[in-house]
Amino acid sequence: MKEKINETLSYIQEIYSGRVEIGMILGSGLGFIGDKIENPIIINYSDIPHFKISSVQSHRNRLIIGDLFGKKVLAMQGRIHYYEGFTQEEITYPIKIFKKLGIEKILLTNAAGGCNHSFSAGDIMIINDHINFSGKNPLIGPNDDDLGPRFPDMSNIYKKKYRELVKKCAVENNIEVKEGVYMYFSGPSYETPAEIRMASLMGADAVGMSTVPEAIVANYCDMDVIAISCISNLAAGISDMVLNHKEVIETTNRVKNNLSKLVEEIVLKI
Ligand code: HPA
Repeated sequence: MKEKINETLSYIQEIYSGRVEIGMILGSGLGFIGDKIENPIIINYSDIPHFKISSVQSHRNRLIIGDLFGKKVLAMQGRIHYYEGFTQEEITYPIKIFKKLGIEKILLTNAAGGCNHSFSAGDIMIINDHINFSGKNPLIGPNDDDLGPRFPDMSNIYKKKYRELVKKCAVENNIEVKEGVYMYFSGPSYETPAEIRMASLMGADAVGMSTVPEAIVANYCDMDVIAISCISNLAAGISDMVLNHKEVIETTNRVKNNLSKLVEEIVLKI
């Protein structure tokens, strides 16, 4: 594993050897945020040793390093998912690379189904905690003590100070935000109405198929995690809509301006 990580690192560092302050993963329909990065250095995942490529349409499979509001950021335009057949280790590999590049803060974004009845499609939700309902944990396997402890504490992944900061950024820009618990299902099928009733009973406000493995590994590596969901649809059974990926993309497009403004403000202030 260490050898693999070193190969990836040397490839990236040959292209860019400076410091990066913030890492970002841009989820379904949210890749456009990467287009705002100035002086971009673009590296295709296909050229990076040990990086895997997402087959999900709308994921652009490239890494962008550049400037956003005077901060050096590294953004992944697209991520790989467990439901594509990748292992939990593979989907969280880029987080370990972020850590080794010296990144201390990470912003995760995703599209999610809302299961809180007060939510609407198009809402933005700050994740304040998660439920890992996939039955998998990305830290299973031999532990690398250089990255983090064998039994890492997960009681404070999404720190209050950052959640308050996101709320402040939202208020200052007249953007309404919700806050809640994200529940991770493996996918790729959307949930059934009964599963969504269960998720609500268990305390979830939104459901989705990403982010949690990355958040677990980032927290394990002692990085600060900020995570934001775009509620792209109401989850199964909450509305009569038939769920499909097209709707997810259409909704994220609709709230594009607010979302990118919010991300820019967060980057500016953290
Ligand atoms: N369920 C799971 N994942 C999702 C959904 C959903 O309703 N919408 C977007 N990603």
